Amino acid sequence: MAAISKRKFDVVIVGAGGSGMRASLQLARAGLNVAVLSKVFPTRSHTVAAQGGIGASLGNMNEDNWHYHFYDTVKGSDWLGDQDAIEFMCREAPKVVYDLEHMGMPFDRNPDGTIYQRPFGGHTANYGEKAVERACAAADRTGHAMLHTLYQQNVKAKTTFFVEWMAQDLIMDADGECVGVTAIEMETGELHIFEAKTTLLATGGAGRIFAASTNAFINTGDGLGMAARAGIALEDMEFWQFHPTGVAGAGVLLTEGCRGEGAILLNSNGERFMERYAPTLKDLAPRDFVSRCMDQEIKEGRGCGPKKDYIHLKLDHLGADTIHKRLPSVYEIGHNFANVDITKEPIPVVPTIHYQMGGIPTNINGQVVTQKNGQDNAVVGGLYAVGECSCVSVHGANRLGTNSLLDLLVFGRAAGNHIVEHHNKTKSHKALPAEAADLTNARLARLDSAKDGEYAQTVANDIRDTMQLHAGVFRTQASLDEGVKKVAALRERVNAIGLKDNSKVFNTARIEALEVDNLIESAQATIMSAAARKESRGAHSVADYDDTPEFPNGRNDKEWHKHSLWYKDGNRLSYKGVQMKPLTVESVPLKTRTF
Ligand code: FUM
Repeated sequence: MAAISKRKFDVVIVGAGGSGMRASLQLARAGLNVAVLSKVFPTRSHTVAAQGGIGASLGNMNEDNWHYHFYDTVKGSDWLGDQDAIEFMCREAPKVVYDLEHMGMPFDRNPDGTIYQRPFGGHTANYGEKAVERACAAADRTGHAMLHTLYQQNVKAKTTFFVEWMAQDLIMDADGECVGVTAIEMETGELHIFEAKTTLLATGGAGRIFAASTNAFINTGDGLGMAARAGIALEDMEFWQFHPTGVAGAGVLLTEGCRGEGAILLNSNGERFMERYAPTLKDLAPRDFVSRCMDQEIKEGRGCGPKKDYIHLKLDHLGADTIHKRLPSVYEIGHNFANVDITKEPIPVVPTIHYQMGGIPTNINGQVVTQKNGQDNAVVGGLYAVGECSCVSVHGANRLGTNSLLDLLVFGRAAGNHIVEHHNKTKSHKALPAEAADLTNARLARLDSAKDGEYAQTVANDIRDTMQLHAGVFRTQASLDEGVKKVAALRERVNAIGLKDNSKVFNTARIEALEVDNLIESAQATIMSAAARKESRGAHSVADYDDTPEFPNGRNDKEWHKHSLWYKDGNRLSYKGVQMKPLTVESVPLKTRTF
């Protein structure tokens, strides 16, 4: 076998979305030698699809402050978020937004020149009293504007990008520390080794484990797969957010900013049904709640259309001027994906998979943590994770809209700062273990030898259909248990995927097959954790554990107020406590959620 080429950097970042590029910017500006590996051109990373805004209590439109934001985030998380991390994020929010503004981010503006902010689901003033405008927006293209701003700043700071490279496996040494990654150059199919003092995973979520998803096709859970194969747990993977307004039949996102601007949800009777379920916040209640209400309307026969299987999102009353100014992409999406002119008629929507609340466990510095020697949060040397692939945990059982872009900025920056301060100035590279590329080589050899195996896409589609059926918006214990068995059987099929006649195989087929290795880890972590959690909390809603006087909202705090940890090794689950103590303020005690 030819020698594997090696490259050496201070820091290697896997993923060029908002969190990866926010971290790389901090590092490159500090003079570190940083490589960013990305499967796609950086500005095509999935952050580009974020529409509605970045949550920060600037108070530009009405009185707001980080204490309200902190409270909303804890409540939105159904009390599963760690309150120290939530306080950190909400306090840092204005700072990271102003940083972006100073980098040139083209935010929409108020007449007085301040950043425009719109209302969003679950954002309130005075601890739930009334809706507040907290989403800092660039029309409905906030992620697009943010990613381009960060990319330009990284180019200026001399970050090195490896575009169309797919990272494969973490290289762990005998001390259990990370010393780099293996990666494939997609154009040539060649395997390379990247040595690094620090490796940072910023690979985004695994939204493509579901069939109907607002996520890009690149979101195959690559960082999760890499972590799982390295023996690191995946935390709270049972919690997947359904965004209330995906275009029915197409899955494309229609931003919550629509409802922030005044759009409403209607059932087949033309009733604004959210007034019944959430008298205060109405259409702007948190996403898990709105999604369940929509599903309830459909289940009770009040869905719209010939099959009564969707809900109407009505925007025409906002007026064409507001729609073209504030929601130009939504107008185009309506036209292109539903053949609807939203300035004149309602658009069919259904709750659609959108965001993974769980991920690789980290602390607020972005350091990956694991259970070791009786400690729940022992730091894994040399390894960080930020953004949707990580779980810090600020989103708990359900994320508030706009807290995803915020999470990318706050923790991308914090991880960058921590690496600069604590690791890279004095530390030298640790030696690479002799078996650095063995795991990846074994995976490649498996694919190449199984020429008669199944096509990767057939197996991937079966994973997606299984997850959609067994771990959807409304779950039942029986269906989850059956899903566990089906996903275990799918793992056997993943292990038998082949590249057919590999003399004719394009590297894209090889890459797709390697992505399935990551899909299966994310899917199994999800279904195992979901089947084990015997309660309803946030986005994990199980019909068997419906609202009872003993367990309001279906939550069972006595037994299940804890984070799950799934380990690939032995396909086993473990648990750890929720951090109820914030950094400086009083904690928000457990309470039933009403809106
Ligand atoms: O609705 C949206 O614009 C999505 C925002 C988010 O997921 O935070």
